[in-house]
Amino acid sequence: MNFPYGRVAFFVTSNIHKFQEAKRVLAEYDIAAAMIKMSALEIQDDSLENIAKASVLDAVKKCNLPVIVEDAGLFIKVLNGFPGPYSSYVNRTLGVEGILKLMRDVEDRSAYFLSVVAFSNPDGKEIKFFHGKVEGRIAYEARGESGFGFDPVFIPVEGDGRTFAEMSTEEKNRFSHRARALRKFAEWYKKLG
Ligand code: IMP
Repeated sequence: MNFPYGRVAFFVTSNIHKFQEAKRVLAEYDIAAAMIKMSALEIQDDSLENIAKASVLDAVKKCNLPVIVEDAGLFIKVLNGFPGPYSSYVNRTLGVEGILKLMRDVEDRSAYFLSVVAFSNPDGKEIKFFHGKVEGRIAYEARGESGFGFDPVFIPVEGDGRTFAEMSTEEKNRFSHRARALRKFAEWYKKLG
């Protein structure tokens, strides 16, 4: 691939928070990020990879560029991994309060976020996947104003007890599933010919 204007990654997403996080991570690798604000197809499936694959194929068809998409989910141990790949739907329907209700009086609050970044060239012939994970626990109450989705109830184990929503983007990027998947993508993307 040719990069006459320096390295650029085109991130197809309708979520400005995801883009803000990605922009900072990619800048660590001198990769400029461009947001293509579009909702790529989001299928329902048990696998984040299958969801990301369908999204990236839809995205390249629509914009004819090499692009990345990202799909993520929150997996709660005592709920056997729910909401997992259905996190977006559950966020829209039950929301943070719904998760807190499901977890009322539950002692084991272990959970993790998983992220899959999918890259495809415009021809859609070969898709590359990059994974990132962060272990944590579900808070007893929502805390913090930053971020999005389940950030107010997720406390990363490597942190200091604050939820993601109580952290700046830079702090969240130190631990987050998305930042970890994007760093793997960036390492690979930088090495492309
Ligand atoms: P998506 O399908 O990748 O957009 O993400 C599914 C859902 O998981 C989102 O709607 C959020 O509720 C949740 N989610 C994914 N990543 C994060 C995150 O970094 N923080 C909080 N919630 C997240």
